[in-house]
Amino acid sequence: MNKTATATLDQKYLWHPFTQMRDWRKSTPIVLDRGKGSQLWDEQGREYIDANSSIWTNLHGHSHPKINRAIRNQLDKVAHVSALGLANAPAAKLGERLVRLVKPRTRFPKTEPRLAKVFFSDDGSTSTEVAIKLSYEFARRTGRSRKPRFLSVDGAYHGDTVGAVSAGHINLFHKAYSGLMFKTDKVLSPHCYRCPFNKAKPERADARNYRKCNMECIDKVEQTFEQRKKRGGNYAAFLVEPAMQGPAGMIAQPKGWLSKVGAIARANGTQIIADEVMTGLGRASDRMFASHSEKIQPDYLCIAKGLTGGYLPMAATLTTQDVFNAFLGEYQEFKTFFHGHSFTGNPLGAAAGLASLELLNSKSGAKQRKNLAARLKKYSEQLWTHEKIGDIRQSGCVLAVELVRNWKTREPFELAEQAGIRVCNAMAKRGVLTRPIGNVIVIMPPFCTTKVQVEKTISALSNSIAETL
Ligand SMILES: Cc1ncc(COP(=O)(O)O)c(C=O)c1O
Repeated sequence: MNKTATATLDQKYLWHPFTQMRDWRKSTPIVLDRGKGSQLWDEQGREYIDANSSIWTNLHGHSHPKINRAIRNQLDKVAHVSALGLANAPAAKLGERLVRLVKPRTRFPKTEPRLAKVFFSDDGSTSTEVAIKLSYEFARRTGRSRKPRFLSVDGAYHGDTVGAVSAGHINLFHKAYSGLMFKTDKVLSPHCYRCPFNKAKPERADARNYRKCNMECIDKVEQTFEQRKKRGGNYAAFLVEPAMQGPAGMIAQPKGWLSKVGAIARANGTQIIADEVMTGLGRASDRMFASHSEKIQPDYLCIAKGLTGGYLPMAATLTTQDVFNAFLGEYQEFKTFFHGHSFTGNPLGAAAGLASLELLNSKSGAKQRKNLAARLKKYSEQLWTHEKIGDIRQSGCVLAVELVRNWKTREPFELAEQAGIRVCNAMAKRGVLTRPIGNVIVIMPPFCTTKVQVEKTISALSNSIAETL
């Protein structure tokens, strides 16, 4: 593969996220040039399937005529105006649509909150940062706590800003910044495949389906709340990635975990922050939001990545009227939420978001998601023949394949062996792009991905594992 002029420029000037730049500089980067549907092309005209939806953002495929048109129409009016003291139509409409969208369709316990207000920001990290700050201040203003503290899940990832990092529990990413962070507590992650309480011997199936345990992960949550109570405190909020903890390695939660853990949080008067940055908008469950599959309506719902269909950076934090009211007052009381970004409520992003929500809500959109989830399930079955696969877990339209040295013992590859990276490099050579999380290969293509493209993706994965490991 020849290095293009763009690749040379990039390697001279750019610093890439989550990338060892020494390796990057030695590589021949793929320079992506255009896209259509689930397909991407590089500068040299080679074709790829976008099997991780451009880092979990793209919902309906690239260059979708409806989203393109919406952005172009808005561009002819105005690209950006400030949301500080000014309004714009696309942002206002998107706010209204989101509030409608997050209303659970089925009967929900009356005690669950009603989400009524939308705070826009730029990306997943800022959406969780906003939720943390709102919850912190809400706890103080309502007298529930003078020093609010947060609880999250082991392996949690809520973004890279300092508040989000503080609530995160992935040592590799977060430990270096411990001096910058505020203290948060964590509970055991419900990771059936590697759970210390799971007594089952490994089988050729999703570990959630053959686990032998008494759901001790839930007892542990209860105990954590009790310990906090004994110390005379309470948690302001419990942060959770519903259905699947993404950056921890696509850890899929067993059915019932979130509803039980949510009920414990509620019983303790703790708010729930649902980080649906990855899982929301139909991605990781049969509902629009994974929290709803577990009959949980959070106090804060964080949406990003796919909000604009994955076309522009925009995020939203939805919350309740009660939280909103806690920030109302006379000007001189300074109860204002002093937080915001230059591009908050960006009209181009909002226009794209409106078009994307229309596609999501359409009958064909629902059918696409259903078909994709079914095809991922069907075609991934064949992967169990690989000795180097320990677990295959799926939640909605997200498939995760965990590579292991020995499936009978669950022995993992050392991170330094780069098993995931090597497999993904081999997949790229076969025309399929995705990025591993350590030893976990993520398959999460746009909803419009066809049967043939799913088949090709799984077969590239299978052949790459056989060749590489
Ligand atoms: C669950 C979750 N929360 C937050 C984030 C941060 O989002 P962003 O990268 O847009 O800041 C991510 C990103 O992968 C995520 O998966």
